Amino acid sequence: MELSSPLRSTFLFPYSPRLDRLKGMWKDVSDTHDPPTFFESAAMSFTLRDATLADIPVITDIYSESVRNGVATYEIAVPDQSEMTTRFSTITGNSYPYIIAVDGDGIVIGYAYASAFRTRSAYRFLVEDSIYLAPEARGRGVGKALLQELIARCTDLGFRQMVAVIGGAHPASIAVHRSTGFVDSGTMKGSGFKFGRWLDTTFMQLALGEGLETAPAEGVYPDTLYGA
Ligand SMILES: CC(C)(COP(=O)(O)OP(=O)(O)OC[C@H]1O[C@@H](n2cnc3c(N)ncnc32)[C@H](O)[C@@H]1OP(=O)(O)O)[C@@H](O)C(=O)NCCC(=O)NCCS
Repeated sequence: MELSSPLRSTFLFPYSPRLDRLKGMWKDVSDTHDPPTFFESAAMSFTLRDATLADIPVITDIYSESVRNGVATYEIAVPDQSEMTTRFSTITGNSYPYIIAVDGDGIVIGYAYASAFRTRSAYRFLVEDSIYLAPEARGRGVGKALLQELIARCTDLGFRQMVAVIGGAHPASIAVHRSTGFVDSGTMKGSGFKFGRWLDTTFMQLALGEGLETAPAEGVYPDTLYGA
């Protein structure tokens, strides 16, 4: 169970920007976990690591803010921690990546995960990405770093396409996806209705690895997803 992992909690503590020392510390202690990814910019320092059940309360807070105030998600009722835990377990139980960004004070400032676009078997090589940041963390490169990490992990796992389903054609969301190589793949007009107005949904897509140039490997993840 990830909650009991001492290696992960090591990097929940506030850290100084002495990144080389921290990278060395991680190298010394870890031979079984993916290392956190360290970032430093003029605006803020942050690390990326796998999310755990212990992060669900903050993840719920971050997502709730977007449900209440934004059109990135078409949910209207705020889900509680129990529901967010169920969703987390479904996603990680299917071995999709679920990662968080932690600032220099140890505070979770954003998260991202990949999940099924649809669970019909033929969709098994396609993943949808989701990214949500606390308002104060936006516009500082955190979303792009989370998305790049998600892309790298999904590529390594063998997925072949990633789709972004962008609610309300939100400019920041379109920008972060374009910035990481996604291309437009269509708009579904009037597909949502929230805050008293019709919303267009923009689809963007990125080929992962060999994309559709080759057939995927048979009998290994993700070919085994959804009873294929
Ligand atoms: C959308 C979101 C994830 C983007 O993350 P972010 O950390 O704010 O974006 P970044 O700072 O990493 O910026 C990435 C790129 O997008 C651009 N960008 C960011 N916000 C922008 C905005 N409001 N308008 C136009 N471009 C914007 C940046 O200039 C940058 O471009 P570059 O790489 O060419 O320099 C974040 O703003 C967020 O959580 N928003 C609310 C929830 C949401 O919309 N989630 C998306 C669900 S699909």
